[in-house]
Amino acid sequence: MENILCEFPYKNNSHIALVTLNRPKVLNALSTDLMHELVDCFLKLDTNPEVRVIILTGSDKAFAAGADIAQMVSATPIDQINDQRFRTWEMLKLITKPIIAAVNGFALGGGCELAMSCDLIIAGEDAKFSQPEIKIGTIPGAGGTQRLTRAIGKSKAMMMVLTGEMIDAKTAYEWGLVAKVVPSITLMQETFELALKISERAPVAIRLAKEAVNKSFEMTLKDGMDFERRNFYLTFASLDQKEGMQAFLEKRSPSYKGN
Ligand code: CAA
Repeated sequence: MENILCEFPYKNNSHIALVTLNRPKVLNALSTDLMHELVDCFLKLDTNPEVRVIILTGSDKAFAAGADIAQMVSATPIDQINDQRFRTWEMLKLITKPIIAAVNGFALGGGCELAMSCDLIIAGEDAKFSQPEIKIGTIPGAGGTQRLTRAIGKSKAMMMVLTGEMIDAKTAYEWGLVAKVVPSITLMQETFELALKISERAPVAIRLAKEAVNKSFEMTLKDGMDFERRNFYLTFASLDQKEGMQAFLEKRSPSYKGN
């Protein structure tokens, strides 16, 4: 792979994988090739039973500065339709394992959208988020008007999408876009510790929980509650549920096998 780095096991932990966007010369601009490589890598990690959590990161300067403008400048609408890039974006939704975005530096345009496509975002205190497409004569195309609005509400999303201005990590935290802000220098360590915590939970329950939370964006409250209840029942088909509850009653730590 030319545009990303994939490290598994990460830090010798047999359940955590690290994927790093790696086009430093263009601040990790998300080219079609990069998106293909990213989705291929995620799909492989998702089908590896050893992997329980995926961390996605960029560089200190940029998580990603958006879609590759050089690739798009002369594109026609038909070029955009034929370009498989957006199909790869859709495929991100297929990943069943938790993906944590560890964001340092710029997360702009498609970079912000990619971070929002992950399950949660941890930001270094120097991180900056924006949907700057309006400044280059277009609008977000990979969820910036939808996921951002759901995350921070209509007025703030309008302000970001209509001005293209950046917000800093502290604001992104206060507005609910990111789960936690940490010193930039400790971003990867703190993200690893969070990934470790999640990787120690029962994998089947993690998968069903992720699925249920994500459904809340697509369903009415009633349908979402029904979906959640079914996934709750389904956890009782797993040995890990028996182990988790038994371990609690026996006052010991559970040992989850992922079945
Ligand atoms: N696409 C292609 N190349 C990019 C890029 C992008 N999105 N962002 C940065 N680069 C390139 C620059 O052209 C520059 O290349 P050269 O060295 O060859 O000139 C290199 O990366 C370094 O960038 P800068 O010199 O501009 O660095 P800076 O520190 O002065 O500024 C920045 C950093 C504020 C992030 C600025 O680069 C910038 O504004 N980038 C564009 C951000 C943007 O508009 N993103 C939205 C893209 S559209 C989109 O994402 C659509 C969608 O929803 C799918």
